[in-house]
Amino acid sequence: MIVILDFGSQYTQLIARRLREIGVYSEIFPYNVSKNEIHSHVFSVDKVEGIILSGGPSSVLEPDSPTVSLEFLEEFGVPILGICYGMQLICKLKGGKLEKSKFREYGYTELEIVSNSKLFRGVPNSIVVWMSHGDSVVKLPDSFKTVAITRNGIIASAEDEKNKIFCVQFHPEVFHTQYGKEILKNFAFEICNLNGNWSVEKFIEYNEKEIKNFVGDRDVVMAVSGGVDSTVMAVYLSKIIGNKLIPIFVNTGLLRMNEEEEVIENFKSLGIKVRYIDASEEFLYALKGIKDPEEKRKIIGRKFVEVLFKDIKESDILAQGTLYPDVIETSSVKGPSATIKTHHNRVKEIRQLEKEGRILEPFKFLFKDEVRKLGKVLGIPDRILNRHPFPGPGLAVRIIGDVNYEKLNILRKVDKIFIDNLKNEGFYDKVWQSFAVLLSDKAVGVMGDERSYGYVVVLRSVDSVDGMTADWSRLPYDFLNKVANEIIREVHEVTRVVYDITSKPPATIEWE
Ligand code: XMP
Repeated sequence: MIVILDFGSQYTQLIARRLREIGVYSEIFPYNVSKNEIHSHVFSVDKVEGIILSGGPSSVLEPDSPTVSLEFLEEFGVPILGICYGMQLICKLKGGKLEKSKFREYGYTELEIVSNSKLFRGVPNSIVVWMSHGDSVVKLPDSFKTVAITRNGIIASAEDEKNKIFCVQFHPEVFHTQYGKEILKNFAFEICNLNGNWSVEKFIEYNEKEIKNFVGDRDVVMAVSGGVDSTVMAVYLSKIIGNKLIPIFVNTGLLRMNEEEEVIENFKSLGIKVRYIDASEEFLYALKGIKDPEEKRKIIGRKFVEVLFKDIKESDILAQGTLYPDVIETSSVKGPSATIKTHHNRVKEIRQLEKEGRILEPFKFLFKDEVRKLGKVLGIPDRILNRHPFPGPGLAVRIIGDVNYEKLNILRKVDKIFIDNLKNEGFYDKVWQSFAVLLSDKAVGVMGDERSYGYVVVLRSVDSVDGMTADWSRLPYDFLNKVANEIIREVHEVTRVVYDITSKPPATIEWE
């Protein structure tokens, strides 16, 4: 694998993503990781074949900027690629000279390749790259040669070919960099001699033995929601540990119309028997009169753990759907203690299980799209894999203000009309997430000849890649018109339907 040392760049995750896309397994470690820590992660049949130093927000000219020792890097005896801050750090450590740039290059910059390099094999002599730096290397270390310079005369790439050290001032991992993928491919294939044969199938192969050993003869409890992650995980684990897996579906009372039946039915079709717990009354009682969104989330989170833990025996393991982005703290420049993010569901009870070696997180090294790929390999139908994300706190965060049965019933009817129409008209698979929100204020309308006073609902549909940023979906007016009419006609408590045309940022996807 290729080890990425993270100096806190917002793009560090992208380096790992891009490498995995070209079939190279990579993991991100804080810049001050120990060699033992790296080796404890490396799959037994693999080893470290290359090291990448990421970019970062600091300046190597500052006295306490994050650093790594040359001995540490050289001990691996593998090729090194420094990106942005990584390049500057390598040059500083090797005796080069750095200065604050006269031009703060940010965004698109054109560069010219001035000497032959394996890193740029197959790349045209002049390309546009993505830059974001305030310092520049003004004198290279002795053993280095300049490979590329920008329009502003700044060294954009340099290398010490003999010692297999390569540097780029720009970000090859960023989509806007032309030939960025080729440059990373050249590093991995031409320089590190990797062959790009990593895939989710390999992941299955490697992990299976590890999971079997870890589980032993214990039972593994996991909460399933019917969403992509928990479904893929349940299918994956049940293939490995069979009926030692105990999937539990908790009805929080905050689900969409008929969701519990649909989820249980889906699992049945996948050959998995789910234990069903109806805790809806408990949840709704605990939420009574609570208006604050964060308070609602906390109550739901606590209740969930309480309900789930009633079903966990002394020796059982709890499997969690933690994904790689949850694990990586990109701002690892804060130091090792900040490197592993406390996952949002890591409450006291779960931390205790962790101490006892009873937490299993089979997907903690996978990105979301890899989980989906794994789902496909495991034969899970697209109908299930393409379900829109649904938040853990469910409809509670889609009812503004306090939650009660009446509002839940209204929202369920509205949501179903919206989603059914999206599916029928072929829009469901084209958008990333869609749902309805029920507002707490009422609005006036006219029904027949009478003045009516009812609820306002918001339809929200967004296009996104990962939910981090999103744009509102440009659904056709005629379609929205049809949905709005149907809602007003069939859900009498509603007098007004509005469509949310705010992107994220500045808004969030959910309303609460
Ligand atoms: P926001 O509203 O933060 O949503 O733009 C981004 C994505 O996260 C989902 N979301 C949640 N998921 N618990 C969850 O499990 C939550 O509390 C929560 N809040 C938001 C949201 O549905 C969207 O997909």
